[in-house]
Amino acid sequence: MLSQAENDLLTQTAIGTPAGEYFRRYWLPAMLASEVPAPDCPPVRVKLLGEDLIAFRDTHGRVGLLDEFCPHRRASLFWGRNEECGLRCVYHGWKFDPSGACVDMPNEPAQYAFENKVRTRAYSTREYGGVIWAYLGPPDQLPELPKLEWARVPDSHRYVSKRFQETNYLQAIEGGIDSSHSNFLHATLDAFRVTDSYVEKTKNSANLRAKYHLMDKAPRFSVKKTDYGLVIAVRRNAEEDTYYWRLTQFLLPSHTMIPYQKGHSIHGHCWVPRDDQTCWVWTMTWNPDDALSREDRDAIENDSFVHAKVEPVTFRPLRNQDNNYLIDREQQRSATMTGIHGFAAQDQALQESMGPLVDRTRERLGTSDTAIIAMRRLLLQEIRSLQQGETPLAAQQGDIYWVRSCSLVLNRQVELDEGARELMKAEV
Ligand code: FES
Ligand SMILES: [Fe+2]
Repeated sequence: MLSQAENDLLTQTAIGTPAGEYFRRYWLPAMLASEVPAPDCPPVRVKLLGEDLIAFRDTHGRVGLLDEFCPHRRASLFWGRNEECGLRCVYHGWKFDPSGACVDMPNEPAQYAFENKVRTRAYSTREYGGVIWAYLGPPDQLPELPKLEWARVPDSHRYVSKRFQETNYLQAIEGGIDSSHSNFLHATLDAFRVTDSYVEKTKNSANLRAKYHLMDKAPRFSVKKTDYGLVIAVRRNAEEDTYYWRLTQFLLPSHTMIPYQKGHSIHGHCWVPRDDQTCWVWTMTWNPDDALSREDRDAIENDSFVHAKVEPVTFRPLRNQDNNYLIDREQQRSATMTGIHGFAAQDQALQESMGPLVDRTRERLGTSDTAIIAMRRLLLQEIRSLQQGETPLAAQQGDIYWVRSCSLVLNRQVELDEGARELMKAEV
């Protein structure tokens, strides 16, 4: 449970709000690089942290990110012409380069050189990992790009998608680090009931998740603070003398990783505030060693796992609250917990069902919410430190993001730290 003041502090991210200023100290995924595929291609709308922006790729390939509204009389630059190193407002012809400088003002007499006195708001961008990243903070505090593994593998090893979610970002992060929901929300009925046939089918599986994840429905959580955020360890009973451990990271300000098992691809998320009622859900699938497999591509194509099919302009999932996520009640009766196809839509349906901004003064948290409590505490602490003038450390240290999630089975006597170290040695 949070107080109303804490809930407000965490969930409000417009300019001038404490959490808004905090998020503005980090590089944030802003758009897919493929949304601005070529020099002088059409500009696109981007909304981040409550700000309406326009992105365009200029003649030299640089990506500009400007206030959507022209500083002359506030017309939208979405209608602008992207031409010769700048975006020209089609209302009266003022033209802006990617730095926000007005470089042409054809409706004013040249002798006044009025254009030299006009700038529009512009933010820094970087292209990295198939994504255009944006920095909306003070120019003299430019952070380092986070060395996230997914952004650093070859393009063939990675798939990145973005979707629009009708909730505040915090609700989405909470869904991402809540490891106990997958035993229910994402389960088939066979798994949920642990039927004999399910046990038979999975008992020799090399996939630890299939074998153990759904067997123990009340996992134990422990959380450790790190320099990048949190590492969340979730322990389930495996065999009589072993535990199945899943380790996942929460990386400031809003990245998460789903536990990796050798031989499989890795998945991660980043949740970016769009405004206080909506967020961008970024989902990444990557294989550190190889190009993505046919199996990965099929799961993406069928939106059966963590990615969802979206409408191309708005990025709103095709399964959404207006069509009840295309729920199939017969499926729900006979085969799966939800009757909704795909993990992404299942998560989205339940997170959106809480309303865009959940009232955290009215919740009753249990031990399975340990990671959520720790994440909120950490973010509150970080936001308050910035209010007192302390620069967020993680934003200045790209190297600390060079981590990987993992899952492993350990003898019940072995300490997790020791087991994880052994696993690392084997991996290296
Ligand atoms: S409103 Fe853009 S040039 Fe006038
Ligand atoms: Fe989920």
